[in-house]
Amino acid sequence: MWRQSERVSYSGDVGVNLLQEAVGELVAAAAQAQKMAYAPYSRFPVGAALLAADGAIYAGCNVENASYGLTICAERNALAHAVLCGAKQFIGVAVVTDNGVTPCGACRQVLAEFGPRMTVIVADMHGNQQIYSLGELLPDAFGPGHLQK
Ligand code: THU
Repeated sequence: MWRQSERVSYSGDVGVNLLQEAVGELVAAAAQAQKMAYAPYSRFPVGAALLAADGAIYAGCNVENASYGLTICAERNALAHAVLCGAKQFIGVAVVTDNGVTPCGACRQVLAEFGPRMTVIVADMHGNQQIYSLGELLPDAFGPGHLQK
């Protein structure tokens, strides 16, 4: 059974109520996705789950490849899953790994494209959680607004 840490607090300022209601389900979805990871090379399975503005949850796992550089991270697969389903606004993302690490730089950038103010919930295999805002993980991010004339 997945358990929530008492250390949870909410630093995001978008959809806080929805996130508070959904955080358990969101982390559980990421934990389920982690079980589906294809990570025979790194043996570092990752699961991610995005909470869309309408409350829908979209999960993804990392998918590695014998040509190592073609590996796709869980967060970006979750985002592709969501966009395929029509979601483009996100309140938060949960990322589950064995040791509770934050998303890589590439994933931070890709997440920021659609949810620059989203909350990032990081969980480990013991159920410990850390909460960040994407803005603190990727300050002064380059984004769509910088391309407008
Ligand atoms: N990985 C993710 O899925 N997300 C991250 O944010 C960091 C890294 C994956 C890629 C690779 O399959 C494994 O973790 C080790 O780098």
